[in-house]
Amino acid sequence: MKINNKIAKKRKEDFPIFRHNLGLVYLDNAATSQRPASVINAVKDFSEKDNANVGRGVYSLAERAMKKYNQARIIVADFIKAEPEEIIFTRNATESLNLLAYTLPSILPRNKNEILITEMEHHSNLVPWQQLAKRNNMKLKFVKITKDFMLDMNDFNSKLSDKTAIVSVAQVSNVLGTINDVKLITKLAKQKGAITIIDAAQSIQHLNINVKELECDFLAFSGHKVLGPSGIGVLFGRKELLEKLPPFNFGGGMISKITKENSEWANPPEKFEAGTQNIAEAIGLAESLSYLKKISLENIKEWENYLLKYALKRLKEVPDIKIYNPGEEKSVSLVSFNLLGIHPHDIAGLLNEKRIAIRAGHCCAMPLMEILKAKGGVCRASFSFYNTLEDIDILVDALKEIQKKFA
Ligand SMILES: Cc1ncc(COP(=O)(O)O)c(C=O)c1O
Repeated sequence: MKINNKIAKKRKEDFPIFRHNLGLVYLDNAATSQRPASVINAVKDFSEKDNANVGRGVYSLAERAMKKYNQARIIVADFIKAEPEEIIFTRNATESLNLLAYTLPSILPRNKNEILITEMEHHSNLVPWQQLAKRNNMKLKFVKITKDFMLDMNDFNSKLSDKTAIVSVAQVSNVLGTINDVKLITKLAKQKGAITIIDAAQSIQHLNINVKELECDFLAFSGHKVLGPSGIGVLFGRKELLEKLPPFNFGGGMISKITKENSEWANPPEKFEAGTQNIAEAIGLAESLSYLKKISLENIKEWENYLLKYALKRLKEVPDIKIYNPGEEKSVSLVSFNLLGIHPHDIAGLLNEKRIAIRAGHCCAMPLMEILKAKGGVCRASFSFYNTLEDIDILVDALKEIQKKFA
């Protein structure tokens, strides 16, 4: 069913957080999304009825736990059109990207020593590559952004070369909201024989993702940004590559045979899942994806684009506002902004007094803040499908009041 303002309002009833925090205007969905009761109950149910370790016990309870864990992997795989054995459960997108930064060097060709990322990356898709470059004497290059907050594809083409070993790009910027054409980026990178990685931390909650169509080698995201629990993340990897990659962590559950001197690894995904995993959280994540699928990402996209359009229109009414967003259709429902002469932390603090929750500061993208010349960072309002037009009105009215206060 298509979402409209009435349905969005109704959807909020699925989320207990709003019942426990009356009047909360939650506009920090890009930091973490709220959880529907079905997700909370899936984690609780598992803990109450099925809790046991997986991949070890032969008793019924352990088998039931294993079945649910395997089913969770199947649901996650189906959500992004991957195969279950291509899904590795991690703690979060950050851990997924670190896994790659530590293991990829052993399969990179010797003549390739450059890593290409962009100026709009979150620290999680920057620091692991910066540190890999330092460890392995590689060169880290950044694709520029244009004045209208898009990725500069001319700059991308000029920096991509036969020396490029890895291209790692956010599908959606957590500051600008910009949707990058990762399908094209992957295609161009492949022509140069580079490994392609998509940071889907901000896109997974807004866009339909099909890894087969994108033809990427790897894709990472976190459960807590897609209505799921925290402590669970995903790394998708193409099967042939996962087979070639060495393990990241070592220990129980990731071996096929061990002697005192040597170890042989289990097949993927177990090879990358050493130790006891966040089993209940994986099951919770599967439930969040099932919930989203029922609403349909098409419907979500349509409503969220409407919210973005409305938010951009209303925010422009606020005097002395600087908006960092490429505009509707080019962005997900997320708007960063600054009010001239007022520190973002002051704005967020005053909004909090009215129960409005936004993000303020560098948003884990310090190099981007420098490019935007946003010294104190930005204010970021990020919307989900359960947000309403009234939420935006409340934000805009409060911003106008703050300006009067500081005038
Ligand atoms: C684009 C992007 N990548 C990666 C991350 C890291 O996600 P997590 O902290 O869940 O690992 C974030 C979190 O905000 C993000 O926005």
